[in-house]
Order: sequence, then C-alpha cells, then structure tokens
Amino acid sequence: MQAARMIGPEVAPPAMCYYEPLKGSGGKCRACLVKVTAGSEKDPRPMPKLVPACITAVQDGMIVENTVNEDVLETRKGIVEFLLLNHPLDCPVCDQAGECHLQDFSFEHGVSSTRTVEERNTFEPTDLGPNIQLHMNRCILCYRCVYTADQITDGRVHGVMHRGDHAEISTYIEKAIDNDFSGNVIDVCPVGALTDKTYRFKSRVWFSKPVDAHCECSKCSGKATIWYKGDEVIRVTGRKNMWGEVTDFICNGCRFDKKKTSDWVIEGPTNVSRHSVISANKYGANLIKPAFPVLQAARDYKQINDDRDRSFLGIQPALPKSKKK
Ligand code: SF4
Ligand code: FES
Repeated sequence: MQAARMIGPEVAPPAMCYYEPLKGSGGKCRACLVKVTAGSEKDPRPMPKLVPACITAVQDGMIVENTVNEDVLETRKGIVEFLLLNHPLDCPVCDQAGECHLQDFSFEHGVSSTRTVEERNTFEPTDLGPNIQLHMNRCILCYRCVYTADQITDGRVHGVMHRGDHAEISTYIEKAIDNDFSGNVIDVCPVGALTDKTYRFKSRVWFSKPVDAHCECSKCSGKATIWYKGDEVIRVTGRKNMWGEVTDFICNGCRFDKKKTSDWVIEGPTNVSRHSVISANKYGANLIKPAFPVLQAARDYKQINDDRDRSFLGIQPALPKSKKK
C-alpha cells in the first residue's frame, strides 16, 4: 500500500481499514485486494490468490496489478456489496455524507444495484460519553477506532464485542469514552458510525468551508481544520492528508470547546486534495479526478430511460434518442 501511495493516488488501492499512523491497522476489510503476478525477483511465481495490499510486504521485482486486473475489479464489487450488507443507505441524513470513504469506495468500485433482500442488522444509537454518539448500524468493523483508543488515549474502554455477524463496537459496560484524546475516534472512522455530538445535523459538509488554523495548546499540537458555515465555526477536526488520514491528533479541548474564530490563528483555506464533494466549487486547482468514476458515470448513468408518465404535467414521455426526430 505504501509503495503504491509513493507512486501516486491513481494507482493506490482503496483502503477502508488501513490507517498508516495507526500501528497494526489493516487486514480487516479486504478493500485493497490486489493481484500479485510476480512475487519477487528471486521467486517470480504469481501469488495464487488476491492479497491485501495494506499488509503485504513489497519485494524487489514484485509485479502488482491493481487498476486493470479483471479479478481484482470483480472482487472489489463483491467487497462493496459485502460492506453494504448491513450498512444502511441513509447517506441523505448521515453526517459523514460527502466525506465517507464507503461512499467513495462504492461509487468507484461498486455496482449501481443491490441483490440483497434480507433484513439488515439494526442497533439503537448509543451515547459514548458527552461528545460522541455511536451509530452501530453504519459501522464496518474496521477497528480503526479501537487502535486509536489503544495508541492515542490513556486507556481504551471500548472494543469489538462478540464474533461474526454478532460483532459490534461497544464500550465495556457502557462506560463513556471521556479521556482527553477520545474525539480522534470520530476522525478515523471511515463511515458515519462515530459522530461528533457538537456538529451532528448542523450542515452538509459541502456547504461548509474548511480552514487550516492553529492555537496554543499544552496537550496537543494545536494544528486543526476548522469548519465554517457562514461566520460560525461548526466543527473542529484534525487535519487530514491526501489519504484522508490524520497525522497530528488533537485533544478534546481543541475539538469540542474552541468554537470561536478568536480561539484560533487562521492559516488559510484547507487544501482538499482527496477527490471529494467537499472541494466542489472550491479550491479546485489540485483536484484529483480519477478516470474510473467518470467512465463509470458515462457508462451507467447516462442510460437512464426516463419514460415515466408525466402527462399530468402536460409533458410527453422522453423518447429514446433513436426515435427522436
Ligand atoms: S465505529 Fe467506525 S472506526 Fe470504529 S470499527 Fe466501526 S467503522 Fe471502524
Ligand atoms: S485496507 Fe487493506 S484490508 Fe482493509
């Protein structure tokens, strides 16, 4: 994964559970499966099965197919389907919409229909202390928040309980996550499972303006992204790099309590380099436009046959192009 990222975002495999700053992350979601057609210079035999790029060591002479291999592309469709088996399609009301890695992953690699008819696992939203709410319905069990709590905070009080399709993120005996760095679990969550209670339902992310800012803080680096809606600071997050990963984790004081412009020294507009709806109509100079979703949109979404009966509007059904005069 890191080797591919060094080449560039056009060849880096998608990642739902791998998070470079978190030791041990990866190997859970299978989003990054790739085909190794030659193992190494010394042993150029292909690997028999697809392998997860995030936990496979790179070797001299290794040849990896990631963007063109039919098996890889077909398998990714299946992985998206699998991740969406129990995931609700509640993007219109989910705070993560617009910056959700699962949304991006399914847009770029999934199919536009579903085959599942089974009932989804459902859970009631759970309060994890004063600042965080868990929507277990949306969790994809990537373990990022568990590693964050283990490695960034003083004491982890939550984890994955049970096994298989009963597995769920939970605090031990409903203990609140209330240490100084607990808010970082919100930033690492790739979906909208862990949400910031001070920000929930305040805005859609594409209506807000991210700005890099810093402050004097004795607990963390004080480097953050603050999100404006008009003149109001509606949320504070860690700064994310082009892979959507926070490298300077921030403390809860900066995240939840500093919601005034006067609390911060503004550095300038955040450069959103990851392709995202956040950058729609803003700061587009360095925007990465991957070819795949554009091709998919051209192939799948231009063929809509809109022949609904609209006579009540005084409009005739649209004719297929070939029949138009
Ligand atoms: S709550 Fe979010 S970060 Fe934690 S395991 Fe679930 S999807 Fe991953
Ligand atoms: S990103 Fe590699 S298995 Fe999840």
